[in-house]
Amino acid sequence: MSDRESISATEGKNTGDMSMNIKNVLVTGAGGKIGRAVLPELAKAGYAVRALEYTDGLAVPQGENIEVIVGDLRDPSLARRLIADMDAVIHLGNVKENKELFLDTNIKGTFYLLDACKEAGHIQQYIQAGSDARAGIYYYPQPIPIDENHRHSGYPGYYPLSKVLEEVLCEQYQIMYQTPITILRFSWVHDEDDILAHVTLAEPRLGVPVWRDWARTPEQKAYFESGQDAVACLVHADGSAGQRHIVGIRDVVQSILLALGNPTAVGEAFNVSGPSPFGYDVLANYVAEKLDLPVVRFEVTEFHDFFIEMSKSRSVLGFHPEYDIFRIVDDAIRFRQEGKTRTVWPYPG
Ligand SMILES: NC(=O)c1ccc[n+]([C@@H]2O[C@H](COP(=O)([O-])OP(=O)(O)OC[C@H]3O[C@@H](n4cnc5c(N)ncnc54)[C@H](O)[C@@H]3O)[C@@H](O)[C@H]2O)c1
Repeated sequence: MSDRESISATEGKNTGDMSMNIKNVLVTGAGGKIGRAVLPELAKAGYAVRALEYTDGLAVPQGENIEVIVGDLRDPSLARRLIADMDAVIHLGNVKENKELFLDTNIKGTFYLLDACKEAGHIQQYIQAGSDARAGIYYYPQPIPIDENHRHSGYPGYYPLSKVLEEVLCEQYQIMYQTPITILRFSWVHDEDDILAHVTLAEPRLGVPVWRDWARTPEQKAYFESGQDAVACLVHADGSAGQRHIVGIRDVVQSILLALGNPTAVGEAFNVSGPSPFGYDVLANYVAEKLDLPVVRFEVTEFHDFFIEMSKSRSVLGFHPEYDIFRIVDDAIRFRQEGKTRTVWPYPG
């Protein structure tokens, strides 16, 4: 993890080659974007799931083999009760960019869970939701693909800071107490019509860069003034299209199921991204054709291309991401055609 690809299996009794027998799984953040997608699949795979629901209105999907418990990650007494009769933990609960809450919810919340696992001693695997935000993505020059050895280098913000600190906590619990930890570092996760909300100019807008902030020419500004929709194509100063890497929600679910109960995943961190990076020109042209919209180029000077290296998750987990940018767009268009409406998240992203 972090600067080292893995923590040696010889450092502790719980790493590497232990055999696992995981049946009961605690999932925090179960009502969130990833949680609600993974929950039914865990239940379908035969796990008995305890789902932590929070009082922010994000309901946990009901179902057979899903027990819902309401609680707050900031409560120091909660973790011990939650993990008491569990075999594994999947920690997805957190807040995103939130200066007031991130320390208590994300850092202390992760600490309470890790420490409860250490104290209890029976948890066979603790899976932490990591993020490519911890590697800075497009905010910094990325001359080589971002692999698992890439140093922690979160971009400016409380969310990336949080993702780095959560991982450092995990790394230390693995080193100090041999807590059996797996970190899955997700790229920006796409569900519903997220990709259209991101790449078109009309509201809702999603993600960064924010096109309106990069509108410089009268033509660009006119789209926002008139409300006429278009598709954004991010370009560099030399005119070449920006390149980035994202992941579809189904591939995220696949990675969690592959990691859970997999002894070779213990003590390791894995990148979880789509089958390949994409160029904004390819994305923009595809969406423009499908939705019959014009393409508008935005020169974004503060964007560095980045590629997520996926060899390790492919070879160790057997991860085969299936949702490339075209499939993500197709699913998003189908979502709209079926008259579905986007989930309103308290913490968008
Ligand atoms: N969505 C992404 O693009 C993305 C990308 C990389 C990593 N991740 C990571 O994956 C994890 C899950 O992300 P997500 O997009 O599903 O998040 P989300 O914002 O959709 O959901 C967060 C969940 O945490 C719960 N929560 C918030 N405060 C809580 C509290 N005080 N007590 C208990 N629960 C609380 C919410 O109710 C919700 O269920 C996070 O760790 C996130 O950093 C997400």
